[in-house]
Amino acid sequence: MPTRAAITAVHGYVPEFRLSNEVLETMVETSDEWITERTGIKERRIQTGRDQGISVMAIEAVNGLLKKRGIDAEEIDLLILATVTPDRVFPATANIVCDAIGATNAWGFDLGAACSGFLYALSTGAQFVETGKHKKVVIVGGDKMSSIIDYTDRSTCIIFGDGCGAVLLEPTEEPVGIYDSILRSDGSGCQYLNQKAGGSMRPPSERTLEAKEHYVFQEGKAVFKHAVTNMSEVSAAIMERNGLTANDIAWLVPHQANKRIIDATAQRMGLDESKVMVNIDKYGNTTSGTIPLCLWEWESKLNKGDNLILSAFGGGFTWGSIWLKWAY
Ligand code: UT7
Repeated sequence: MPTRAAITAVHGYVPEFRLSNEVLETMVETSDEWITERTGIKERRIQTGRDQGISVMAIEAVNGLLKKRGIDAEEIDLLILATVTPDRVFPATANIVCDAIGATNAWGFDLGAACSGFLYALSTGAQFVETGKHKKVVIVGGDKMSSIIDYTDRSTCIIFGDGCGAVLLEPTEEPVGIYDSILRSDGSGCQYLNQKAGGSMRPPSERTLEAKEHYVFQEGKAVFKHAVTNMSEVSAAIMERNGLTANDIAWLVPHQANKRIIDATAQRMGLDESKVMVNIDKYGNTTSGTIPLCLWEWESKLNKGDNLILSAFGGGFTWGSIWLKWAY
C-alpha cells in the first residue's frame, strides 16, 4: 500500500461581524432579492479592527486545529498558507503564523492561486507527506477579501467575505487520504479578474489610488462562463478517470463563488444537491477559505472512507479538482 497524505484534522475561523444583504442595500444600489437570486448569498463575515491581517484568522484556525488533534506546534514540519491577501507583500504570512503559534521547527510559504489556492496548497503539501519527507503539514486557506474590495462597487462588494480554514496532513498506510488531483491554470484569464496595482508592474502611487486600482476588478459574466465550464469539466474528469460514479461520491466540496456555479457543477457530476456542501449563504466568497470552511462545518457528518471531490475555479484563471477519501 503506498503512503498517502490524509487530512487528520480540520478547523476554521470566521470573524464575528456580519454584513447582511440588507445593510448592503444601504451602501450600494442593490437588493436582497437580486443578491440572493443571482448568487445565493445572504450575508458575509468581515474582519474589523486596525492592523488585523489574514494572519489573525489563520492563527485562530491553526491553533484550533492543533488543539483538536492534540499535537504541539513544534511538531509541524511545513505550513503552507494559500491567500491573495497576505499581511504584507513580504515576508510570507506563513512565517508570521508559524512564529505566533510557536511552530519553531517548521518552514513555510504563501501560495497565491486565488480561489483555487487551497487545492493547489493541499496538493503541494501532500507531495511532502507522500514522499516521506514530512510527517505533519498544515495547509491553511483564507482571505481577508474586505481589504481589497471597493464597497462602492456593487458588482464585487456583494460577493466577497472574510474567513479562513486549516487542515492537517499526515501520512497513512490505510486506504484513505488524497487519491488524485487535476490542477490547471490559464494566465490569459488575468484580464477578467485581477488587482491592477500594488505589485511590481504598477507600484502604489497617487494615480493608482485615485484610479481605485488596488481593489478587485472582475468582469463577472466572463468569469462566470469560464467557471461553470471549467469547474464542471474538471470535476467530471476526475470522476471519469478514476471510474467513480455519482453513487460513489459522498460529498462535493465546491468553491463557494456563486450558487449557480455550484449547481451547474453538481448537475454535470450527476449529484443530488443533498450531497453538495453549500455555506455561501452565510459567508459569501472567502476565496482561498471556502473549501476548508466547508470541511470544517461538515466535519461531524463525514465518515471514514467517504469519497469527497473538492473543486474550485478562480482568478488566474486557476482551477482544479481533488479526490480524497475521508480518513476519520
Ligand atoms: O471566485 C472567483 C471567481 N468568481 C466567480 O466565479 C464569480 C463569477 N461571476 C458571478 O458570480 C456573476 O457574474 C456576478 C454575481 C458577479 C454577477 O451576476 P450576473 O448574473 O452575471 O450579472 P451581470 O453582471 O450580468 O449583471 C446583470 C444586471 C446588470 O444590469 P442590466 O445591464 O441588465 O440592466 C447589472 O448592472 O444586474 C445588474 N447588477 C446588479 N443589480 C443589483 C450587477 N450587480 C448588481 C447588484 N445589484 N449587486
